[in-house]
Amino acid sequence: MILVTGISGGLGGLVFQGLSELDDVRVTGGTRTGDGVSARRVDFDDPRSLPAAFEDVDVLLVVSAGYAEDDVVFARHAAAADAAAQAGVRHLIYTSLASSGESMTIALPHRWSEERFAAGPFTTTILRNGLYPDLPVALATATAATSADDVLAAPFGAGRLSVVVRQDLADVAVRVAAESERDLAAGKLSRHADRVYELEGDTALGGAEIAQILTEELGRPIAYRPASLTETRAALAGSSLEPYQITHALSLYSNVIAGRAEATRSDLPQLLRTAPRSVRAAVAEAVARNRG
Ligand SMILES: NC(=O)c1ccc[n+]([C@@H]2O[C@H](COP(=O)([O-])OP(=O)(O)OC[C@H]3O[C@@H](n4cnc5c(N)ncnc54)[C@H](OP(=O)(O)O)[C@@H]3O)[C@@H](O)[C@H]2O)c1
Repeated sequence: MILVTGISGGLGGLVFQGLSELDDVRVTGGTRTGDGVSARRVDFDDPRSLPAAFEDVDVLLVVSAGYAEDDVVFARHAAAADAAAQAGVRHLIYTSLASSGESMTIALPHRWSEERFAAGPFTTTILRNGLYPDLPVALATATAATSADDVLAAPFGAGRLSVVVRQDLADVAVRVAAESERDLAAGKLSRHADRVYELEGDTALGGAEIAQILTEELGRPIAYRPASLTETRAALAGSSLEPYQITHALSLYSNVIAGRAEATRSDLPQLLRTAPRSVRAAVAEAVARNRG
């Protein structure tokens, strides 16, 4: 059986739905509260919830629980690794961060977690997911305090950020989990064992591209103005973001300005059975959500 953690979330929900549509694999989900029916209780902050949750699980898909300070994330993923080992999980899939984010502060807990999971005793597949298109839109909204109505002031400089639609990442996760489960059922190792996949999109967004989409979506001209990191730090301090999120946001921006946030290679085309979905549509949805 496959267990997908974090199915109350955007990515985990899509993966669970995709796996549930397959006739030949058994899947269950995990949420922090559990419902005793379709979702088991999986709370990495409460390791006592994990032994029962991981019972009879052959393939465990750990959706990273990254919204916290790094030390909390380390403890969460260490608890997941220990419980998976004790429960006899045979293959573990972890949703990590793509190489275009390598020098961002968010990379450290992901790379640490990759190594922790790779210590086994199970085999692993690391899905190094690119960033979602709604992320730069949400960050630009958080810095909106510095923006006039017709100006998008954001610290992207002249740089761009590679992004990938969540559903594409979910489709790959469904494929890897289902094929792993089938391989194990046939008495073989997962064909994805010990593989690290770079799942980067083929589109990169900068300030000008986001301003253009805003212009089309809002029906009025929006111009991009590169903001400094100093003014952005001040704007974020007054936003609703948690302090650790501000650290990560500034690091992301700094990487974009430095021209270090664009993908150089991707395994997505080989693993996705369809053409990648439109980033434009996902950004438009995020704009509409942020307006609502
Ligand atoms: N690629 C990107 O652009 C990007 C951007 C932001 C984050 N991420 C990372 O990718 C992950 C998945 O993205 P998403 O869009 O699905 O995020 P999401 O919608 O926020 O979902 C996160 C899921 O993780 C669960 N979770 C949180 N803390 C947990 C814990 N202690 N134990 C077990 N489960 C826990 C949440 O459960 P509750 O609903 O109970 O909170 C939720 O189901 C995120 O958690 C984050 O680590 C990626």
